[in-house]
Amino acid sequence: MEKEFETLSDYTDEDYCGAEEEVFSVAIDGPAGAGKSTVAKIIAKKLGIVYVDTGAMYRAMGLKALRLGYDPADPVNVIPMLPGTEVSIAYADGAQHIFLDGEDVSGLIRTEEVSQAASKISAIPEVREKLVELQRKIAEKQSLVMDGRDIGTVVLPGAKYKFYVTASAEVRAQRRYLEYEQKGKLDGRSFGDILAEIIERDDRDMNRPVAPLRPAEGAVIVDTSELGIDEVVAEVLNIMGLVEN
Ligand code: DC
Repeated sequence: MEKEFETLSDYTDEDYCGAEEEVFSVAIDGPAGAGKSTVAKIIAKKLGIVYVDTGAMYRAMGLKALRLGYDPADPVNVIPMLPGTEVSIAYADGAQHIFLDGEDVSGLIRTEEVSQAASKISAIPEVREKLVELQRKIAEKQSLVMDGRDIGTVVLPGAKYKFYVTASAEVRAQRRYLEYEQKGKLDGRSFGDILAEIIERDDRDMNRPVAPLRPAEGAVIVDTSELGIDEVVAEVLNIMGLVEN
């Protein structure tokens, strides 16, 4: 019978790394809306390796806190929640699905409320500890492209390739605005509202004491403000020494 999901533990070491194949990581960090997940997905597909979206893990944690009626920024409730919380990922048709306590919550984590909750809960060191451990385990066994805020700085400082994908807040807000407009997800928000949300999340993610968002040592900074996605992918592949075909 065909399985609907492939979990990472379904593979043996041999599946991941033939005797001569090197296991390597591509770390992509950057602020919300810079296009890093789009780039990361394309690069992973081109290289035939897994894409891991770590933001989804923080979103799942944020969702759980919201469901329990907790303030995601308040460690008093969040820390005791952690031992009984299981976050995991699996793949269906090549797309990552995120599971919270066994429930596929992939379709529930892309709201603005969950974005802000993820950003708040991610500032709690104990939350980071738990998810960083999971992320490192996933990266141990296979080559992958992992995106987030602290992949090159904390999670995988030894990553073979490190990128910091960024764009001006205005450009990122403009992209989000168009995306929400197309998907009918604006909910009455103006461009100014979206820009304010982006700036609020940047500020929190960049100024928290633990694992703040910043370019890792040795990371190549790719500013996507004036580049289309194809140009960004071409630049990244070029930097990795791989020619687009
Ligand atoms: O990448 P994203 O927008 O889905 O991430 C949601 C939030 O999760 C982001 O605002 C900060 C947090 N995050 C983090 O702290 N570290 C990561 N590696 C990934 C995300």
